[in-house]
Amino acid sequence: MHIILLGPPGAGKGTQAARLVEATGLVHVATGDMFRENVRGGTELGLLAKSYMDRGELVPDEVTIAMLRERLDRPDAAAGSVLDGFPRTTEQARALDDALAERDQAVDAALLIDVPPDEVRARLGGRWTCAADGAVYHETNNPPAAAGVCDGCGAALTQRDDDTPAAIDRRLTVYERQTAPLIAFYESAGRLVRIDGARAPADVGADLLAALPTASPEVD
Ligand code: AP5
Repeated sequence: MHIILLGPPGAGKGTQAARLVEATGLVHVATGDMFRENVRGGTELGLLAKSYMDRGELVPDEVTIAMLRERLDRPDAAAGSVLDGFPRTTEQARALDDALAERDQAVDAALLIDVPPDEVRARLGGRWTCAADGAVYHETNNPPAAAGVCDGCGAALTQRDDDTPAAIDRRLTVYERQTAPLIAFYESAGRLVRIDGARAPADVGADLLAALPTASPEVD
């Protein structure tokens, strides 16, 4: 089963992906996390990605699609995945369909977490993340037990370079222009489910779980 989490920056895709992965055993594939790992590792891909990410722009399709294909080829993704942050353009959505068709698989559902822009700004302005284990916190909505310290592993929490007001505004504009058209793309294919994301994480998570298909569709 391959599930896509769609939604604006800060909608809670990462937060909810962690819950879905725990409930389903599917692997979490987050292109933003993969780029950030490369940035931390100082790789050529990381240097390239950082120049786009810090401005709130998308990393070019060619690079992103190649990285995603390589990730789906790994054995732990054979049974399926929770795709968080991919696809983000129509070209990426088509490439994903092609990559999965080569494996006799398909996108089973695209789950849209709907959150208005003002809520996005409030969420991203207060987000703190753990670089060691990927846990995501919010200074008021979901604070760690001790300020600045990850509950799970004790590492120091940090704020992302692209969570500045200017980069958040740019990410919202890029989302509307380049990613929102995917809502119609998956709706016309009968694969879109809309979830109201402006509620408590547990309520959003319950609806997402309930929206999961019970069996994979046949691939022609
Ligand atoms: P990426 O890392 O994917 O960022 P994003 O889509 O902007 O999403 P975020 O990670 O900011 O938010 P989220 O929806 O995961 O929310 P979260 O759960 O953290 O991408 C970063 C960059 O990488 C892109 O800008 C681009 O440059 C590049 N990139 C990545 N993929 C790409 C692709 N496919 N193509 C090209 N470029 C790509 O929650 C946010 C905050 O809200 C947290 O503090 C959380 O605790 C809190 N929160 C969560 N849920 C709730 C709730 N229900 N109520 C209250 N607070 C909540």
